[in-house]
Amino acid sequence: VENIQIGLLGLGTVGRGVYRIITGNAENIKRKVGVGLEIKKIMVRDTSRQRGIEIDPGKLTNKVEDILNDPEIKIVVEVMGGIEPTLDYVSRALENGKSVVTANKDMIAVYGKQLFAMAEANNADLLFEASVAGGIPIIRPLKQCLSANRITQIIGIINGTTNYMLTKMTEEGSDFADVLREAQAKGYAEADPTSDIEGYDAARKLAILASIAFNSRIVLDDVYVEGITKITAEDIAYAGELNYIVKLLGIAKETGDGVEVRVHPTLIPRDHPLASVNDVYNAIFVTGDAVGDTMFYGRGAGEMPTASAVVADVMDAARDLLRNVPGLISCTCYEEKPVKDMGS
Ligand code: NAP
Ligand code: HSE
Repeated sequence: VENIQIGLLGLGTVGRGVYRIITGNAENIKRKVGVGLEIKKIMVRDTSRQRGIEIDPGKLTNKVEDILNDPEIKIVVEVMGGIEPTLDYVSRALENGKSVVTANKDMIAVYGKQLFAMAEANNADLLFEASVAGGIPIIRPLKQCLSANRITQIIGIINGTTNYMLTKMTEEGSDFADVLREAQAKGYAEADPTSDIEGYDAARKLAILASIAFNSRIVLDDVYVEGITKITAEDIAYAGELNYIVKLLGIAKETGDGVEVRVHPTLIPRDHPLASVNDVYNAIFVTGDAVGDTMFYGRGAGEMPTASAVVADVMDAARDLLRNVPGLISCTCYEEKPVKDMGS
């Protein structure tokens, strides 16, 4: 069997990591999948920009048709971000029968339902492990390993940028604007970092996790959201004097009268396991009726951790293509459940 051809939409922080892993770990990937993976085309806005990575310029394009209309390209990796024009590109890729791997929580949290239906109708995969908590395995564990459980709650630190900022403000008393700039320079923040600091990035991730965990359909609008913009180094110092740490938490619970989903800064005791989750690390507690408490921990953002999750999805999509059974772990069978109004 010849190499499976891939089209990459985007060559920013995550796209570069995907390129590095697919080219740098090619032999290892080939042994595990049974066939090689090859990036045939890469779409960017500006094909002439220096990107700090050696790439055959012939692979770069700014025309999406070079990827969507190429019958040899079987898997499209979307690491552009945003909704427009991304949603259109991903929809067209699925309609053309290509499997899609995405790191885009903005798109999945709002348009996931229609995209999963489109993937199923076109016999394609739509995989999104990297959309929540960067390199930490959490989507697959929820869909597969924990699927025998009734999940009762998820509590997590699911935004790397704000956790990095709060860590620096706690440990070094750093200024909010300075640490935001550092998080941006490290490639952790979204193109528009407002969604990180205002809590919307975490809310999108929580909506995705809660949808899977509670077999329901939770969208961004269902989530109560409060970010960290009003938190000062002084607040953090006062909390510290009382032996508390400030963390931005995402909390989702299934209660008797509906699903509760909220993101807000929370005071947690210094000896709580989440209190020691620092820097760009994320951690997610998942409680199931059979398994009890579980915790997933690792780097929640950044080039290589995020690309690690993207490439694993690409490998799964490639395996599904080889077996001709895409969509093995798709999620289209939601029940509609009431969501509690948490106010604003
Ligand atoms: P980024 O560094 O801003 O890269 C975006 C890439 O997409 C750039 O190469 C850009 O082209 C290209 N692009 C954007 N809009 C385009 C358009 N309209 N037409 C053609 N090309 C376009 O973003 P990133 O940090 O890699 O994030 C990508 C996605 O991964 C987002 O959905 C993000 O939420 C998600 N994600 C990021 C992280 C992280 O740690 N960064 C972690 C998890 C998930 P140019 O290079 O020419 O500008
Ligand atoms: N901006 C996001 C974060 C990237 O800081 O967590 C990972 O999804």
